[in-house]
Amino acid sequence: MTDSTRLAIIYGSTRPGRLCDKVVSWVARELAYYPLIDIDPIDPLEFDLPFQHDREHAGVAALSERLSNADAFIVVTPEYNHSFTASLKFLLDLVYEPWHGKPVAFVSYGGISGGLRAVEQLRLVFAELHAVTVRDTVSFANPWGRFAEDGSLDNPIDARQSLVRMIARLQWWSNALKPARAVRPYRSVAA
Ligand SMILES: Cc1cc2nc3c(=O)[nH]c(=O)nc-3n(C[C@H](O)[C@H](O)[C@H](O)COP(=O)(O)O)c2cc1C
Repeated sequence: MTDSTRLAIIYGSTRPGRLCDKVVSWVARELAYYPLIDIDPIDPLEFDLPFQHDREHAGVAALSERLSNADAFIVVTPEYNHSFTASLKFLLDLVYEPWHGKPVAFVSYGGISGGLRAVEQLRLVFAELHAVTVRDTVSFANPWGRFAEDGSLDNPIDARQSLVRMIARLQWWSNALKPARAVRPYRSVAA
């Protein structure tokens, strides 16, 4: 049996004119075919986040609530200087427990690397946040011009196949971890 999954899609870029908007739109369009997945787009620009690492800030409370509601995450990330963006790192660091015991998958984009160097570094960060990362990714190398404003994708077959495989494994982890967290809250482990 498959449970419903509350899936937060996190924007990995806050750059004016970011490609991230179109990539997130493509992910959302594809996930519309999944009746058991409810998506919640998490755009850092839509939260009143502080410039400092202030976990007491009202904007952080709102972010924390949205992330806490999620069963699983997809991070949509570009590659900046062989890593991920500072804005994404800031968002990851602003909360702690909402990541715990949950699965994370990645959709990446960039030049020839397709953003995979950013993904590999994000795996290290999510390990520290007690999250599990899904092996399978969707990766776009040199995607310039492939995405339309509405998120439709030129030549979508390979990317769709990768997404289907990644979502199947993300749902597997979500279905395994959601009841596990309910039976034993993660914060009580090794407390
Ligand atoms: C500061 C900066 C550094 C970048 N470094 C890389 C890089 O190391 N490797 C790469 O493949 N692309 C790199 N790029 C290209 C970005 O991956 C590309 O511009 C992408 O569209 C950025 O995502 P965004 O438009 O959603 O912000 C860089 C872009 C910027 C702005």
